[in-house]
Amino acid sequence: MSKVFVNIGLSLDGYMAPEGMTLENWDSPEYKEWGAKWGTMMSWILKQQYFRENLNFGPGGETGAVNDMLRYTMERSGANIMGMRMFEQGEVSWPDEAPFHTPVYVLTHEKREPWVRPGGTTFYFVNDGPESALEQARESAGDRDIRISGGANVIQQYLNLGVIDELEIALAPVLFGGGRRLFENLHQAMPEFCIDEVLNTPDAAHLRYVRA
Ligand SMILES: NC(=O)c1ccc[n+]([C@@H]2O[C@H](COP(=O)([O-])OP(=O)(O)OC[C@H]3O[C@@H](n4cnc5c(N)ncnc54)[C@H](OP(=O)(O)O)[C@@H]3O)[C@@H](O)[C@H]2O)c1
Repeated sequence: MSKVFVNIGLSLDGYMAPEGMTLENWDSPEYKEWGAKWGTMMSWILKQQYFRENLNFGPGGETGAVNDMLRYTMERSGANIMGMRMFEQGEVSWPDEAPFHTPVYVLTHEKREPWVRPGGTTFYFVNDGPESALEQARESAGDRDIRISGGANVIQQYLNLGVIDELEIALAPVLFGGGRRLFENLHQAMPEFCIDEVLNTPDAAHLRYVRA
């Protein structure tokens, strides 16, 4: 049975994206210092060989436990689900070969035809809610797992549906002071998860929670 999982970066004060990191400020990373804050939160991933390869950042990069974890995350994913805000930012910044290599179901009110990218990624725009997106993702993932990619709004919806089996958080030592908070709008204070694994690095504590 395939699993539904989340794998994200988070600031120490609980934000998935800093204030100001929106499409209208995309070309002004100095606005509210969103670019520097995002870069600090994600510094661990930017160094990894697997990530650099996948985004065409060029050769080199670290290998080791974190790199292996990234490869495992990618290889286990048979489908992705994301929200429209995450998609819009990716649309203007991912390379032609978008870094998913699976079907991606984008929750949105916008009606749009599927967008096929080279390298196996096709974006499907889903207008009939998170359960429908999950059903479609399950169908295309087969034996592989389903990644709820983000952003905060979409992860909150799936936490509220009680369908997330694993929650992987790279908790970075940076404070945002505002932005898109992960743990809010939840029906339950926090669903029942227990810690399965912790991997410490200087840039982030990689916390893996599984449903208790
Ligand atoms: N830290 C990380 O690892 C990480 C990972 C992923 C994303 N992010 C960041 O998170 C931010 C985006 O998060 P977000 O919470 O603002 O937005 P989001 O979850 O990406 O997208 C929310 C939007 O998706 C659409 N949507 C969501 N659920 C829907 C539903 N049930 N039915 C129809 N439409 C639905 C709506 O847009 P419309 O009404 O316009 O269609 C909604 O405003 C970005 O800055 C991104 O870079 C961070």
